[in-house]
Amino acid sequence: MSIITKLALAAGLAIALSTAAFAQDLTGKVIGFSQIGSESGWRAAETSVTKHEAEARGVDLKFADAQQKQENQIKALRGFIAQGVDAILIAPVVATGWEDVLKEAQEAEIPVVLLDRGVDAPEDLYLTSVASDQVLEGRTAGEWLVNQVAGKDCNVVELQGTVGSSPAINRKQGFEEGIASAANVKITQSQTGDFTRSKGKEVMEAFLKSSNGGADICAVYAHNDDMAVGAIQAIKDAGLKPGTDILVVSIDAVPDIFTAIAAGEANATVELTPNMAGPAFDALAAYLADGTEPEKFIITESKLYTAENDPAGEYERRKGLGY
Ligand code: AHR
Repeated sequence: MSIITKLALAAGLAIALSTAAFAQDLTGKVIGFSQIGSESGWRAAETSVTKHEAEARGVDLKFADAQQKQENQIKALRGFIAQGVDAILIAPVVATGWEDVLKEAQEAEIPVVLLDRGVDAPEDLYLTSVASDQVLEGRTAGEWLVNQVAGKDCNVVELQGTVGSSPAINRKQGFEEGIASAANVKITQSQTGDFTRSKGKEVMEAFLKSSNGGADICAVYAHNDDMAVGAIQAIKDAGLKPGTDILVVSIDAVPDIFTAIAAGEANATVELTPNMAGPAFDALAAYLADGTEPEKFIITESKLYTAENDPAGEYERRKGLGY
């Protein structure tokens, strides 16, 4: 084969490869993102990571903040459909009530990707869901507590997430599964703190008042770190030591909880990555290029962190990530 033929073949291959690479690209695609709001540090980080990922991939991201309201999310989705976007990302605030608008997106042939929360709707109405195993998160927290108290009686107060949201439902179920084998560990009070610091504090204050000033509480299980941080403040205000007098276990692994763990004021957290957009954009790139169907559920990792996992270092590693 002549050198000219070899060069021509190599050039052809290069063009084919770059065409394939280009086909995976999202440059110029218009993608609508309906975000819940900014109830927690974790949510702020997810927003910031999504914007950053979109920019890095050349996506024209249309961002809509729903301020915690499902009706705003439905309105945003209808707006995206009317604009004819190439795809939609949505973090659904609650699990029910999505079927009609998802059908409208399907009729308009716009793929929808769910981020971090699930919906009660037929699976064929969305392309994929990128989320953690929320039952596993709760179970991990429950099992950690059972091991920690090692057979001692332990009354747990639970701060639930937003009523009707998939993480509140699943993290509750998972925790109950995690403590099911331990008759010594019981949930004595459970109420929503809506995933916010201020409500976590407020509800914890009420729990403390109705539990002999906190003397009857062994542990607080919060469905996210922000509520745990609020609860820690309430425990301190009541003159008790969080992390010692009352154990604190929660979910998210945001920088502030590592500060609390390093100070001995919180005990454990289960990590939820804020990078849901990376896997979502990968799935969309392949799907928009040649119709490749992703897995229906892309499950992110749920790692447990305690004081043994270098909390000060974890704080440093996360502090600049938009939390
Ligand atoms: O859906 C994920 C949850 O929503 C996070 O754990 C919480 O912090 C957020 O608000």
